[in-house]
Amino acid sequence: MAVQIAPSILSADFARLAEEAARVEGVADWLHVDVMDNHFVPNLTIGLPVVEALLRSTSIPLDCHLMIEDPDRWAPGYAEAGAASVTIHAEAAKAVIRTLRAIRAAGARAGLALNPATPVEAYEDLLPEIDMLLVMTVEPGFGGQRFLDIMLPKVARARALIDKHGGEVWLQVDGGVSEETIERCAAAGADVFVAGSAVYGSSDPAKAVRHLRALAER
Ligand code: DX5
Ligand code: ZN
Repeated sequence: MAVQIAPSILSADFARLAEEAARVEGVADWLHVDVMDNHFVPNLTIGLPVVEALLRSTSIPLDCHLMIEDPDRWAPGYAEAGAASVTIHAEAAKAVIRTLRAIRAAGARAGLALNPATPVEAYEDLLPEIDMLLVMTVEPGFGGQRFLDIMLPKVARARALIDKHGGEVWLQVDGGVSEETIERCAAAGADVFVAGSAVYGSSDPAKAVRHLRALAER
């Protein structure tokens, strides 16, 4: 699978989301949108109305990462609104298979996210139900945190499980992905890379995306 780069707007200027999206249009594969509810994670960001507004203002497909306590209730709405990919946390969903199926039924790619301490092996049987597995490489909640090196073996184990399963499941990493860490993530088997501060903390976000892609493809 080709390398895909998903800049996270968590590190962008929230007062200028359309302009911030435009800065990576044509170079980014996805725009990663971090939805946080101050319950699942200790931070509060944006919800469905802002995602709907973004969908009207950018042509980049949206990759919505729901860090919320009740994804069963909310996730299908993001897919129905037009998000191309909707990822729910395994730790939060109460009916994870039903919710993944509802995301797909609404026409979006279904993603399953695992916190750093959640074992990937526990979710092997769910691989046929998902289009993307997200291995968190920081504790979710904030941008700009230090990459957790100890997650690299888990990324490699996730890659092995996906290859064994044989379906087309993308493997995403999120948290602390930068020029310093992206090559190790790629070597461990990740193919979709979320980068917040490494892209929007840069004076030239488009150049940062191109550089990250080149490093991941090496
Ligand atoms: C963290 C979010 C990430 C965040 C990554 O909980 O899920 O998507 O934006 O930011 P960086 O790349 O700065 O670690
Ligand atoms: Zn995220």
